[in-house]
Amino acid sequence: MKVAYKGKVRDVYDLGEYLILSSTDRISAFDCVFDETVPDKGKILNSISRLWFDFFKDIPNHIVETDYNKYPGEYKSREELKDRSVLVKKCKRIDYECVVRGYLSGSAYKEYKSIGQIAGVAVSRHYVESEKLSEPLFTPAVKNDSGHDENISEAELKNRVGVELFQTLKDYSLTLYTKGRDKVKTEGLILCDTKFEFGFDKEKVILIDELLTPDSSRYWEVETYAVGISPPSYDKQILRNYLEKIEWNKNPPPPKLPDSIIKELLSKYQELQEKITKCLSEK
Ligand SMILES: Nc1ncnc2c1ncn2[C@@H]1O[C@H](COP(=O)(O)OP(=O)(O)O)[C@@H](O)[C@H]1O
Ligand SMILES: [Mg+2]
Repeated sequence: MKVAYKGKVRDVYDLGEYLILSSTDRISAFDCVFDETVPDKGKILNSISRLWFDFFKDIPNHIVETDYNKYPGEYKSREELKDRSVLVKKCKRIDYECVVRGYLSGSAYKEYKSIGQIAGVAVSRHYVESEKLSEPLFTPAVKNDSGHDENISEAELKNRVGVELFQTLKDYSLTLYTKGRDKVKTEGLILCDTKFEFGFDKEKVILIDELLTPDSSRYWEVETYAVGISPPSYDKQILRNYLEKIEWNKNPPPPKLPDSIIKELLSKYQELQEKITKCLSEK
């Protein structure tokens, strides 16, 4: 078994026609991966993504097999893949991150504050940080393997991929965001923003990568949400607070994380998993 690609937290195995995406227990913050791991975090993130893929079964996706005992060849029943991986169709990736924002945060807030635009479009209304947008916005970005993704306008994406593919990506993305947002509301969660990735399965556009996990999305809690501040995203809050307390300068090497922080992080991930499981099992 050879890892074909090592992301910050996921390992990708290339089987030719398929990929295995495996979520490890690694944690990262400020683009830095820590030496410590959060045991079972990968399993939790993998399960959150799977729950969402199941929930959105009407939208075609890349999932082929989720039971590691049914993986082909040398990948079958490997302990390191157990419950933390999925076997997916390897697709020709559409190299854009399909970001949807329901609230003004992150890079969109920075853009708005400096030039009064969101994703290249002038905004007439006044907003404060983290405020709910009058409607969810599709704000695509070029996927850049070197690290930093570049935001582009809808018009630019349309130019690059053509009106038909543009519309498909936008429609799928807005549908996924809106339904996801409405679902998690019942558990006191706010889906601030998220990104989707799509690929081609032959001619057909399908949903790939991970879906609505805390790694690809910013979840907030109703209780700690307020406008005019930047509420920390669900899972990063504990880590950020700790890193601020010890005044880490955000440059590698990362500091050692105490057991107490690891435990707190794990229980936060478990809590999120429980909440998402709960709201997706409601009719
Ligand atoms: N079905 C798929 N076909 C092709 N590429 C995929 C598919 N699903 C996910 N990917 C790609 O696999 C990689 C997964 O790596 P990831 O752990 O997300 O690392 P990072 O985002 O840090 O590059 C990403 O580049 C993603 O675009
Ligand atoms: Mg990724």
